[in-house]
Amino acid sequence: MTFSDFSNNPDVSFAIETAQLVGKVLLERPDTLEISTKSTKTDVVTHMDKLAEQMIVQRIEELRPLDGILAEEGASKESLSGLQWVIDPIDGTVNYLYDLPFWCISIALIQLETSEPLVGVVLAPALGEMYVASIGFGSWRVTTHSAIRINTSDTVELSQSLMGTGFGYAVQQRKQQAAVLNYVLPSVRDIRRMGSCAIDLCEVASGRLDGFYEKGVNHWDYAAGALIVREAGGIVSGIQGKPEGTDMLLACAPGIHQQMNGLLETATRELRQ
Ligand code: IPD
Ligand code: CA
Ligand code: CA
Repeated sequence: MTFSDFSNNPDVSFAIETAQLVGKVLLERPDTLEISTKSTKTDVVTHMDKLAEQMIVQRIEELRPLDGILAEEGASKESLSGLQWVIDPIDGTVNYLYDLPFWCISIALIQLETSEPLVGVVLAPALGEMYVASIGFGSWRVTTHSAIRINTSDTVELSQSLMGTGFGYAVQQRKQQAAVLNYVLPSVRDIRRMGSCAIDLCEVASGRLDGFYEKGVNHWDYAAGALIVREAGGIVSGIQGKPEGTDMLLACAPGIHQQMNGLLETATRELRQ
């Protein structure tokens, strides 16, 4: 199968074209960004996040009027088709603010009856990379030169694994995340905190990270990336047998998922005491 066979699927091509349209606008980053804060003083949103969301929502309303919407900056619409678009207009807003390249547009299409993601697109314009997955058709990394099938790493040793993580914006949550990090850091090769959950998941999918975990994420942060990891052969879950969610998102190469799950369960249990 080639990437063009797969990208002919109308859901896939709609998601790709939408992300690319918005990506062009976001790449023209204004020198001055209007910013406001959300849940805490460090949780910022720029006028470009809002503009990106408006553009995506407008395109869905015009071309997919029956589909539902759940988007980070507040757009929400009930679905009449059984399908819902889950959108993070800029994942990695703090990087965008500082003009660091690790930010992306994350768009997923969910089948509401099964809660199953059908399509995931993560476009990182400043990195020149786009990640695309469609259920049953694998995960792909697309650049201007190539479209290649990607797979998670074949690591089986947690101590030799490069692990990504992320931190929330609330002080109490950060203290807990720092406490969990005390367990993880001595047990792995090293830690990376890139600042975009969606890109981190794509790095797991392509074997550039062996795994990623974060507590406190929202559906729009991981909906597309989780499908991209699964379609690349990785395992995505919560801990204690639960599915991924705000409690915990754990995405790993299959050879270390169980070890990482055990480590996070130990940390959670001991920190509770
Ligand atoms: C954030 C990023 C970050 C993660 C935070 C998210 P935002 O999303 O994904 O890497 O650690 O938990 O909230 O605010 O840039 O869309
Ligand atoms: Ca986000
Ligand atoms: Ca965001």
